[in-house]
Amino acid sequence: MVQVQAAAAKEATAIPLLTPYKMGQFDLSHRVVLAPLTRCRSYGNVPQPHAAVYYSQRATRGGLLIAEATDISPTAQGYPETPGIYTQQQIEAWKPIVDAVHRKGALFFLQIWHVGRVSFTDFQPNGQAPISSTDKQITPDDSGMVYSKPRRLRTDEIPQIVDDFRRAARNAIEAGFDGVEIHGAHGYLLEQFMKDSVNDRKDQYGGSLENRCRFAVEVIDAVVAEVGAHRVGIRLSPFVDFVDCFDSDPVALGSYMVQQLNRHPGFLYCHMVEPRMAIVEGRRKITHGLLPFRKQFKGTFIAAGGYDRKEGNKVVADGYADLIAYGRLFLANPDLPRRFELNAPLNKYDRSTCRPHRLRKALLG
Ligand SMILES: Cc1cc2nc3c(=O)[nH]c(=O)nc-3n(C[C@H](O)[C@H](O)[C@H](O)COP(=O)(O)O)c2cc1C
Repeated sequence: MVQVQAAAAKEATAIPLLTPYKMGQFDLSHRVVLAPLTRCRSYGNVPQPHAAVYYSQRATRGGLLIAEATDISPTAQGYPETPGIYTQQQIEAWKPIVDAVHRKGALFFLQIWHVGRVSFTDFQPNGQAPISSTDKQITPDDSGMVYSKPRRLRTDEIPQIVDDFRRAARNAIEAGFDGVEIHGAHGYLLEQFMKDSVNDRKDQYGGSLENRCRFAVEVIDAVVAEVGAHRVGIRLSPFVDFVDCFDSDPVALGSYMVQQLNRHPGFLYCHMVEPRMAIVEGRRKITHGLLPFRKQFKGTFIAAGGYDRKEGNKVVADGYADLIAYGRLFLANPDLPRRFELNAPLNKYDRSTCRPHRLRKALLG
């Protein structure tokens, strides 16, 4: 009786981020999701035992973790020491990591990834050119990073890459993951087809919005057919312009993609990244540009990008998003849901330990 009262009292006072949520067949106990975070610590592209520590530190009963972006094939790599999910050795190496997360009662999804032209010949099999929708190189920016000139995929090569995504999804399920998140964001291969600043193709994969999205749609269809819509989510970032990849009409692009997801009954989640922060009266402000997509999408909607406790609570309470993915705050605060519960102070994230960019610079100059 006392326990029931205590539970009821907790429910009555729970902040919106810490209320339960049913995502498809999965029962979540709260809405604080670990965003996918590239770690560059999988030596030889094989996940290492220490990843079990990292992920299980962030696992809570009924929480959702999304694992770091993981290569679907040897041509998918663009950063040092990223994990893969295309060999039996990699599948076996993921298993104890997934088990460690499951023992804590959390759900674990794998983000499946192909970087396309965001790569260097040094990372490619036989030193070949990275593949893309285009042969246009990424314009060097202030960071001084000069990416290799890509090779445009021939039309008849595209089904093979679609199949690599399908196989990666199958392998992820074999490794024990609860589902997969297709990486369709941040200027990587899927976006190099979707966005009109990059895609300059003349075949059925270029030109109209429908044609530019065809590759992503084929990947979605293949992954859904392989593992079931109830285990598939996607990450999209129509407004983001990383690595020279942007679209002249991001709202039309995002809406079209959401319609494609809605074709699959039970498609699990759509995870979208906010447009860049606006600075309003000297404060960073999330612009909440994702509302049209949230309204259109029939499944679970996850928002990410710049959220803190206050902003997360607000948008969950408003119904703007079902779940919020936290990147840097979760990295620096493995017990983030608990800290939110207690409204405890947060550790600051430490850029100096961020391996992806530091390592790439060190290795590639
Ligand atoms: C070190 C680091 C690695 C990241 N790796 C990935 C990744 O593998 N896949 C991905 O979709 N986004 C990646 N991101 C983006 C994050 O998932 C997240 O969207 C971003 O950090 C913004 O959210 P935040 O403000 O909560 O940190 C990465 C970000 C950081 C800082």
